[in-house]
Amino acid sequence: MEIAIRDIKGHAGEVVTVKGWLYNRRKSGKVQFLLIRDGTLPIQAVAFLPDLDPASRDALKGLTKESSLEVTGLVNLDERAPGGAEIQVREVRLVHLADPYPIAAKEHGPDFLMDNRHLWIRSLRQSALLTVRAEVIRAAEEFLHEAGYIRFDAPILTPAACEGTTSLFEAHYLYDQKAYLSQSGQLYAEAGAMALKKVYTLGPTFRAEKSKTRRHLTEFWMLEPEIAFAGLDHITRLAEELVSHVVQAVLKRRPTELKTLERETASLEGIAPPFPKITYSDAIEILQKRGSSIAFGQDLGGEDETLLSSQFERPVIVTHYPAEIKAFYMKRDPENPGLAQCLDMLAPEGYGEIIGGSVREDDYGTLSERIEEHQLPRESFEWYLDLRRYGSVPHAGFGMGIERVVAWIAGVKHVRETIPFPRLIHRIYP
Ligand code: 4AD
Ligand code: MG
Repeated sequence: MEIAIRDIKGHAGEVVTVKGWLYNRRKSGKVQFLLIRDGTLPIQAVAFLPDLDPASRDALKGLTKESSLEVTGLVNLDERAPGGAEIQVREVRLVHLADPYPIAAKEHGPDFLMDNRHLWIRSLRQSALLTVRAEVIRAAEEFLHEAGYIRFDAPILTPAACEGTTSLFEAHYLYDQKAYLSQSGQLYAEAGAMALKKVYTLGPTFRAEKSKTRRHLTEFWMLEPEIAFAGLDHITRLAEELVSHVVQAVLKRRPTELKTLERETASLEGIAPPFPKITYSDAIEILQKRGSSIAFGQDLGGEDETLLSSQFERPVIVTHYPAEIKAFYMKRDPENPGLAQCLDMLAPEGYGEIIGGSVREDDYGTLSERIEEHQLPRESFEWYLDLRRYGSVPHAGFGMGIERVVAWIAGVKHVRETIPFPRLIHRIYP
């Protein structure tokens, strides 16, 4: 019977078949120790050559790393083994003998590994990381679904900018029309919220930013809830509950992957609402006291984010940034019109901004002015202004960057490892 290695403990004493790839092999006289991976877990299969039929012995001859094979054998429980068990081999069937594998056990540089990303993802560490990514997305969607949100898919080809005109990827659309790759699904999510009240978008978003940092991709995935009849308090609560749920779900369902990643989990266990909340001016004060040269009115740089978040054990929510450094759609604070009703959430341990969001300007006249001030092409925003013409309501939402959240939870430094095929300023291969 074919089983997934993850389930092997439930088959103690049974003869099973695992189908997978050879990850590693050790020989000792007449015994061979095969480490086989099947995408769920690795398992050690112990082959005692005199016990095998000639075909199986042949299959083992010259077996190379990443050759695909089917191994049948008896399951023995062994607490020291990775999956809590090992297989005593009875039969080996070779499916494909791999060419000499380019990724060896020795250390490779990041460029080499990135050039071979299509193979690198087979490593136990990268597989664990991508499994954690899938769990983050699943847990986030599950949380929103339970809370009554409707998934609302936004287009990727769009007529205009959402997050500033400097980071737009332009595409040639049909019949000489111009299109841009979406920087955010938000504007469409706002239309969705006016139809369905509580929605979220989830999909790839694009920024032609020449930022060469460990936190920036040119293509990244964003989850963006948008809620009608809501303000800053509402999205603040939603953000801390969503992030806490995602962290706890990964801890609960993916302990083996976190172990493979050597993630220290004690700091994640304490992630629960409420998160600390400070204003942008508090943040500037804290940063200046800690030696940053930042001045009021400037955006927080990567180092400022790291310095600030290191003051807290949970993610910190920073609200009320100067409106000038934020997007055109953000609603100002009625008590202090220089400030936006917005929030950023900064992850602990130096992982930077994982969430950005705001209350949206819902007044037709004010939004018209902002579009003009920002020199945005009004014709492309007529539909967006319509949302303020027909039953406009206070509404708010945020975007959570999937790769940054995965980097934090998995404890990996660079976001390039948190997406199967990263797009970086100098890389679109493979
Ligand atoms: O703060 P941002 O730019 O906000 C928006 O796009 C809003 N329209 C979202 C909304 O209100 N619906 O981006 C949101 C998040 C950031 O906090 C960060 O986690 C992630 O998206 N992000 C990036 N991740 C990787 N690479 C990049 N270049 C990123 N830019 C933003
Ligand atoms: Mg932001």
